[in-house]
Amino acid sequence: MKKYLVIGNPIDHSLSPKLHNYWIKTHNLEANYEKELVFKDDLKKIVDRLRNNDLNGINVTVPFKKDIIPHVDELTDESKITNSVNTIFKKGEKIVGHNTDSVGFDLSIRHAKLNLKDKKVLILGAGGVCPSIIYALESHSISEILISNRTFKKAEELKKKFKYIKLLEWNKFYDFDLIINATSLGLKSDDKIKIDYDKLKTNKIFYDVIYNPVQTNFLKEANLKNHKTINGAMMFIYQAHQAFTIWHNLMPKIDEKTINLIIND
Ligand code: ATR
Repeated sequence: MKKYLVIGNPIDHSLSPKLHNYWIKTHNLEANYEKELVFKDDLKKIVDRLRNNDLNGINVTVPFKKDIIPHVDELTDESKITNSVNTIFKKGEKIVGHNTDSVGFDLSIRHAKLNLKDKKVLILGAGGVCPSIIYALESHSISEILISNRTFKKAEELKKKFKYIKLLEWNKFYDFDLIINATSLGLKSDDKIKIDYDKLKTNKIFYDVIYNPVQTNFLKEANLKNHKTINGAMMFIYQAHQAFTIWHNLMPKIDEKTINLIIND
């Protein structure tokens, strides 16, 4: 029986076991995927379990996507560029750290059939997921990326890596074609992001990386103003799909049933 694990803190909310075990069952694989609450001091021990073949693959979630890096032997280009590892696998005797969030975001944009050529993108936040989004946007010929983060210094850190991004103070108004909420604001039902909806022209795109709740206040208000809204469900599904494909050498179907597993949880 092959064993897979998602680690994080907190981890209770993770829907990765539900999705992976669904695909495992669909393909009649002898495998099992579980979640485990871990602390920073446990990371080496967990990676050693993969080294000793007690585990066959690991997903890493918040807040350890960066902390896990010193414990792997090799990084893929995606994880180097984003400085973030969410998927770990073994290649020969080497432990490889990889990032599938970036492709996950890219595929979610393609899934929604968005054409971002020459569009202006505003990203709210400068946390762990931001480099994956910025890197994914590189293949969409957009005209500019603006980052606005409560802590300006963190946005400045991001600019060191992605020199072409522009920075904007938090809560400053800016016109955009696509706005992405990459902060954790929205996880709680009373979380609000200050946006001047009345100053916006029509037909904007609002993307929230959060998928639980399915509709954050950020998306709810945009919906009321008839803008297009997208939540993080497809990004989540595609990043899991990429990890599954690497581990099992199989590409499961992403159909309505798969999507419902996540959005109707
Ligand atoms: P980390 O910052 O450790 O990488 P994260 O969950 O990846 O953690 O990122 C959280 C993001 O949500 C950050 O951009 C954070 O802004 P700060 O850098 O200012 O902390 C943002 N965030 C969280 N709570 C927020 C709040 N109440 N208002 C505005 N932004 C918030």
